[in-house]
Amino acid sequence: MSSSGDAEAEAEAEAEYFSKDFEWEEVRADVESNPSFRYHLLPFQPSKSQTESDVRAWKRFHVRHSSGKFFKERRYLLKEFPELVSSAPHTKLLEVGCGNGSTALPILRANKDVIVYACDCSDETLERAKEILGAATIVAFSHRFRTFCCDVSTDGFPNWLIFTLSAIPLERMPRFIKECFDVLNPGGMVLFRDYGLYDMTMLRFEEDKRVGFREYMRLDGTRSYFFCLDTVRDLFVGSGFTELELDYCCVKSVNRQKGKCMRRIWVHGKFQKPVLN
Ligand SMILES: C[S@@+](CC[C@H](N)C(=O)[O-])C[C@H]1O[C@@H](n2cnc3c(N)ncnc32)[C@H](O)[C@@H]1O
Repeated sequence: MSSSGDAEAEAEAEAEYFSKDFEWEEVRADVESNPSFRYHLLPFQPSKSQTESDVRAWKRFHVRHSSGKFFKERRYLLKEFPELVSSAPHTKLLEVGCGNGSTALPILRANKDVIVYACDCSDETLERAKEILGAATIVAFSHRFRTFCCDVSTDGFPNWLIFTLSAIPLERMPRFIKECFDVLNPGGMVLFRDYGLYDMTMLRFEEDKRVGFREYMRLDGTRSYFFCLDTVRDLFVGSGFTELELDYCCVKSVNRQKGKCMRRIWVHGKFQKPVLN
């Protein structure tokens, strides 16, 4: 993720969240009529995916960014998903692909009742997450933050997907979402946020970084898929979930140092396992 990844992290840090600064259809029209973006739209013949190297790339990524500062705290999620703050006592959350704890930390701080079970395929980042959470406050979180190492694309599993589904090869997503469905209680929810189609980080990938249709690999071997609403809907509804919320979140992010305005696009979703009658 090196230099473009750093810029991405800066952009995330500077972005103003929660609002709809522009319409997704505007971006779609711009991108689809611009010849320099044509290669993003072409069909792609997928090559055999390499499970081991995907996970190894993430492990290497976390060793390289062992300061744990790469992903900033995602405090905006508390506003995007208010149930994280107002949940019933002893609510259990499962975060899949927790990285350095940038999502878990603000949740644990804001909600004294929640217990977060967090997994990642990298032991290194889980250790770092525990250190960061340990150092973050005088109130100990350790009894409410329980980690375990797991490669969800092959070992199976979860609920609560923040910028993690896009890191998994497309063809393994349906099986993974079905696992999420199976481990949830009836009425349980998946809170979803991930990269949206035509996000500026997608358009910045050069043609040789394509590894699938709407799927790209960074220089460090980590990959990213960019979702349209229909793909997310098909994945979750196809596994038995009910759609509660699904939309693009379109935010203008201004990099004041470089004087650049960037159009960031995320997909926000909320899906529920039906309550049995
Ligand atoms: C883009 S990072 C997001 C981290 C965190 N959720 C956040 O929002 O900052 C994706 C995370 O998913 C983890 N990951 C990728 N593939 C995985 C897999 N197959 N099983 C478990 N975790 C995985 C990576 O190690 C990384 O920490």
